[in-house]
Amino acid sequence: MKFIPEQSFYPLEQSVRFVAESITAYVAVQESVNASIKRDAPYFQDTIKGDEYMKLAKRIGNIKPSAIRAVGKKITAIDNCISFAAGLPDPALFPSKEMKEVTDCLLTEKPHIALQYGMTKGYAPLIAKIVNDLNGRNIDCNVANIQMTTGSQQGISFVGMAFLDPGDVVLTENPTYLGALAAFRPYEVILKGVDSESDGMKMDALEDALKNNPRTKLIYLVPTFSNPSGRTWSIDKRKAVIQLANQYDVVIIEDNPYGDIRFEGEHLPTLKSLDTEERVVYLGSYSKILCAGLRVGYICAEQNLVQKIEIIKEGADLQTNQLAQMQVDELLEKIDLDAHIGKVISAYKEKRDLMMACIEKYFPKNIKYTCPEGGMFLWLELPEKMDANVILDKSLLQKVGFVPGGPFFPEGNNENTIRLNFSTTPKNNIEPGIKILGRVLDEAG
Ligand SMILES: Cc1ncc(COP(=O)(O)O)c(C=O)c1O
Repeated sequence: MKFIPEQSFYPLEQSVRFVAESITAYVAVQESVNASIKRDAPYFQDTIKGDEYMKLAKRIGNIKPSAIRAVGKKITAIDNCISFAAGLPDPALFPSKEMKEVTDCLLTEKPHIALQYGMTKGYAPLIAKIVNDLNGRNIDCNVANIQMTTGSQQGISFVGMAFLDPGDVVLTENPTYLGALAAFRPYEVILKGVDSESDGMKMDALEDALKNNPRTKLIYLVPTFSNPSGRTWSIDKRKAVIQLANQYDVVIIEDNPYGDIRFEGEHLPTLKSLDTEERVVYLGSYSKILCAGLRVGYICAEQNLVQKIEIIKEGADLQTNQLAQMQVDELLEKIDLDAHIGKVISAYKEKRDLMMACIEKYFPKNIKYTCPEGGMFLWLELPEKMDANVILDKSLLQKVGFVPGGPFFPEGNNENTIRLNFSTTPKNNIEPGIKILGRVLDEAG
C-alpha cells in the first residue's frame, strides 16, 4: 500500500536537539510556569468551576468514562466482593524475583542509560529481539518496521492519529475492546460494529459495511482470544479480511496481546503474516505475558508509516520508558520466556476449565457462553429480554461483580451480554462466584 507523504511534521533532528537541551531548559520552563500559574491563578480558578468556563475542544464531547472502571469502583466499595470484572493478568505470575535481579543489575551497571532519555523509536537491543521473534512467526519485518510504544494501547491511539480525520469511519468487531473505542473517540470518527460470530466477523456484513461507508479508513481487530468475547478468527476469515482490506483500500489494525496464551489447539497465522500489501498494522505487548505495569508494547508496520508514528510519539511523550524497555530486554536474556508463558497458560487454563465447569453446573440452560481456547475472557449471552445492568445490581448485593457487555458494542444496545474474566480472580473464588451469579440469573430469568 502507498502512504501519502505528509508535509506538516517537524524533522526528527529538530526534536532530538530539543531533548538534548532539555535539562537546562526544563529548569527555566519550570520557573516560568510557576510564575504564570501565580499570575493566572484567578483565571484557573474560574476554569475549574465547570465546563462552561473551560472552552473545551469539540472532541471532548465524544469521550466517555470507562464502563469497566465504573464497575470496578462499585466492586472495590464492597468488602470481599468476588470480581470477574477486571481484565488484569494474575499478579502471582509476575516474574518479580527476576525483575528485582535485572533491575538491581541495570541500576548498578547501566544507570547512565537506564535513567536517561532514550531514542524515540525505542531501545535498540529490545527492538532487535522483537524483529527476531516476529521473523520466527513468519512476519517479514526489520528494525525499520518497529516503533516501541507505551503499551499497545498507545499504538491504537497513534495509528488512529496517523489515519483518522473527523468523520472517518472505523469498523470493529461486535463486540470489541473498550480501550480501542476510547482511543478512537477523540478523533471525532464514526465507530461502526460489524456483527461477529464464533469464528470472526461475518464477512458479508463486513463487505456491506465497507461498501456503505466509503470513508472507512481502519478496521480494528483482536482476531485471537478477543477481549471481550474470547473468540478466535478461523484461517479462512483471516485470509478473507486481508482480501477485503486490499480490495477496499483500508488498513487493518491487528491487536494481539493474547495470542501466545493458547490453552489448546493449533496456533493460527497472524493477519500480519498473511498481509500481502503491507496494510496490516500489528500491535504487540509484553503486558499479558510478562508485566502489565511496565507499559511496554510495539507497533510493526510499513516503514513509512512507522516513521510518521515515531514523529507522533515524539510529540506525545518523547519515548517509551527507557528503564522499562531495558528491564524487558534483560528479562528476555535472563528467563526462558516460552517457559514463563507456559506457566501463564497452565494457570489460566486451570481457571478457565474451572469457570466452564461451574457455568455448566450452576447457570440456567438459557444462557449462551463462549469457550475460549486461550486468553483471559469468556462471553455470555442472556435471553434478549434480560438486562445485564439489572443482573449486575442484583449480583453486587450478593458480592459478585462483572462487566455488562453493552459498552463493548460501538453503537450500543446488546445489554443482554456479559464479559467474565477468569485470569485475575483467585481460583478459590471462582466456584462460589459463579454459583451466586447462576442463582441471580436463574431468579431473573
Ligand atoms: C485487546 C487489547 N488491546 C490492548 C490492550 C492494552 O494493552 P497494553 O497493556 O499493552 O497497553 C488490552 C488490555 O487489556 C487489550 O485487551
